[in-house]
Amino acid sequence: MPVPFLDLKLQYNDLKAEIDQTVGRIVASQGFVLGPEVQALEEEVADYLGVPFAVGVASGTDALLLPLRALEPEPGDEVIVPAFTFFATAGAVWNSGFTPVFCDVDPDTFNVTSESLESVWTERTRAVIPVHLYGQMAPMTEIRELARGRGAFVLEDAAQAIGARQRYSAVRLGGEPAGIASRSLEESVRSEDWRKAGASGDAGSFSFFPTKNLGGFGDGGLVTTSHEKLAETVAKLRVHGGMQMYHHEMVGTNSRLDALQAAVLRVKLPYLDTWAEGRQRNAALYGELLQGVEGVRTPWVAPDNDHVYNQYTLRVRQRDDLRAYLSERGIGSGLYYPLGLHLQDCFKALGSKVGDLPVTETLTKEVVSLPIFPELTEGQITEVGTAVREFYSS
Ligand SMILES: Cc1ncc(COP(=O)(O)O)c(C=O)c1O
Repeated sequence: MPVPFLDLKLQYNDLKAEIDQTVGRIVASQGFVLGPEVQALEEEVADYLGVPFAVGVASGTDALLLPLRALEPEPGDEVIVPAFTFFATAGAVWNSGFTPVFCDVDPDTFNVTSESLESVWTERTRAVIPVHLYGQMAPMTEIRELARGRGAFVLEDAAQAIGARQRYSAVRLGGEPAGIASRSLEESVRSEDWRKAGASGDAGSFSFFPTKNLGGFGDGGLVTTSHEKLAETVAKLRVHGGMQMYHHEMVGTNSRLDALQAAVLRVKLPYLDTWAEGRQRNAALYGELLQGVEGVRTPWVAPDNDHVYNQYTLRVRQRDDLRAYLSERGIGSGLYYPLGLHLQDCFKALGSKVGDLPVTETLTKEVVSLPIFPELTEGQITEVGTAVREFYSS
């Protein structure tokens, strides 16, 4: 039986009546850009995440770019990003006017740690971007502590991690980053024990690209923050830098979120946690099926984390041969990511070379993602797990 890597039609078919009615409502209103639908989504997502402010924007890439622009970089100011992530993380840093500085990641969680950030820290470091890769949060307590101690801004790239949580260890958040007056993050924490991705740093960036756990019908993104002034600035930057028509306090861009996207996302949001449970169930099944298979390392979830598995990613031997073997059997797989960002042609001028970030460089040769979407049946998961097992026993 073929097993697709992802089949978005199944989710649409489940929600068809609700979604079609909602789309029809927006079309009838002919209100397509920002407006009450986007505002309602912002409020609902802020409430779901436990953050005071959320601003809808045109993509996850812009959700990184606009808060960075709001920090008003001086030439040579640096932002530390992992080399093992989607290109947008570093691309947004570059396009904002900051210089990206690449760090390595933890070989088990695939995420940055305070240690890996610290290893490339310089006196020009103004911000860090922990990416919550594949749906598991980077260790935010130690990262916040490090950044706070050095007056740096923490922007969480939560594009793949909406709904992921981490047990919260209280850290007194000293002063606020320069230029930002705000409510304290402490005030915004609703749950005593857990904090969600995008509610742990100074700001968080989300993507609503269709393949994300909360996916729209096109591009979309959202910025979260506990800093009121930052939320206002991002809201201005998304409409060319001014709230009053034809008056521009700063040079922004067009990064408006469509009402149609917001409406679809509002239909989907109440199902998000149930879908995450489906992904977790599938991951647990893979864990059983792949236990003890030599040459395969299943994902490691840090004890304080709730993983939402936007991707279920193995480290394996003979990765490319495994992918070909699966493909011959009609089983889809994904490769996130085949090349470290420090080695991308466009960042050559930054001076990195092969061997600089060994964990990233090893992971780019070993990782493979298996189908994990919540609508998969137990039979399909068993089929995939059995095929992987067979490959390594043959
Ligand atoms: C980690 C990460 N950051 C940023 C983005 C950018 O999001 P978008 O494609 O919505 O611009 C993505 C999208 O895949 C991502 O995975």
